[in-house]
Amino acid sequence: MWRVLVFLWPIVAVCGAGSCPCSHPELCRPIRGQRDFEVFVFDVGGKTWKSYNWSMVTTVATFGKYDPDLMCYAHSKGARVVLKGDIPLSYIVDQNNRTAWITKQVKLAKSQFMDGINLDIEQAVEEGSPEYDALTDLVKETTEAFHREMPGSQVSFDVAWSPKCIDQRCYDYVTIAESCDLLFVMSYDEQSQIMGDCIAMANAPLSQTLNAYEDYLNLKIDPKKLVMGVPWYGYDYPCLNLSQEGICSIAKVPFRGAPCSDAAGKQKTYKWIMKQVNNSLSGRLWDDNQQAPYFNYKDDTEQIHQVWYDDPESICPKADFVKSKGLRGIGMWNGNILDYSDEPVAKQQTTLMWNALLGC
Ligand SMILES: *[C@@H]1O[C@H](CO)[C@@H](O)[C@H](O)[C@H]1NC(C)=O
Ligand SMILES: *[C@@H]1O[C@H](CO)[C@@H](O)[C@H](O)[C@H]1NC(C)=O
Ligand SMILES: *[C@@H]1O[C@H](CO)[C@@H](O)[C@H](O)[C@H]1NC(C)=O
Ligand SMILES: *[C@@H]1O[C@H](CO)[C@@H](O)[C@H](O)[C@H]1NC(C)=O
Repeated sequence: MWRVLVFLWPIVAVCGAGSCPCSHPELCRPIRGQRDFEVFVFDVGGKTWKSYNWSMVTTVATFGKYDPDLMCYAHSKGARVVLKGDIPLSYIVDQNNRTAWITKQVKLAKSQFMDGINLDIEQAVEEGSPEYDALTDLVKETTEAFHREMPGSQVSFDVAWSPKCIDQRCYDYVTIAESCDLLFVMSYDEQSQIMGDCIAMANAPLSQTLNAYEDYLNLKIDPKKLVMGVPWYGYDYPCLNLSQEGICSIAKVPFRGAPCSDAAGKQKTYKWIMKQVNNSLSGRLWDDNQQAPYFNYKDDTEQIHQVWYDDPESICPKADFVKSKGLRGIGMWNGNILDYSDEPVAKQQTTLMWNALLGC
């Protein structure tokens, strides 16, 4: 009889709660406390998370393959690790489907010793449609399920840079904000719908970015529910024409009702941008209106490009706004795209980017 018990026990452990992959079992315990200032990092995979400034990081949303080493390490630093949640809204209009999806996410988070979920649903939704209500209900029910099943867990929801139906995302922002722990405001891709001249512009121009927070706050959304997302990437636009004044005309690529879009460009990492800028035609330039850096370069085929990006100088006034408005915190898309090599110039640039999150 005792033999059976001896052999059964490990099987139960593996199939039931799951075995802790960390060197110390206490590292599998969920993170419950809340720190005053949130630094919310999206991680897209790889091992560069080892070089994050962990004295700042409070939450890591894992959008790459699940990495138990990352979970154990984050927990050792008191940081949460949260799942990515995404589902076509047409599937979860049906209540049974919605409940089944939520149950599955809670199970997955528990089995991986995670501390919540980040809902990244960037689909177009019409106000008053069945999907509109389903999305609002999804956020509310996901939060209730996570808080009930995993006390202290965190449910966040990603929103566009402005609440004004950007990219046809007409959501019930007020109820969604009330229903979850925090909104991650994606203050980037702000040229996804260009209505004026089709020209290259900043990914996240300063005054447009900050005015949109005023729009969120005017809806009476609690500032403590808002985390500002800044870009650690930029856009590289091939210019159809570069005018004397340095204006780069771009191809007309329509997007969700707009005649042109940043889809005419390619997203580039800060790491790539820092390598390219010193070999460019122009070197780093600064646009006073948009409060953003940019440069022009010529590729191997003699095609001229204009690159718009963010760096510590453009990020620091945004971080100052986070502090002065008492927002919940700051974060970035994404943590992996700095140059984490040992090269001294790269090291310096990477440190400055992390430190810019805390303001000027
Ligand atoms: C990490 O961030 C802290 C602020 O939280 C700062 O004091 C420290 O210098 C940073 N570490 C590095 C290696 O830059
Ligand atoms: C339920 O979800 C599945 C996908 O998981 C989908 O194929 C199906 O159409 C959904 N059912 C309803 C009624 O929406
Ligand atoms: C292209 O730029 C040149 C130089 O600034 C300008 O003279 C010309 O009008 C522009 N062409 C188009 C098609 O915009
Ligand atoms: C690029 O130029 C800047 C300013 O001249 C300099 O500080 C930096 O070290 C250079 N970067 C590289 C990678 O050489």
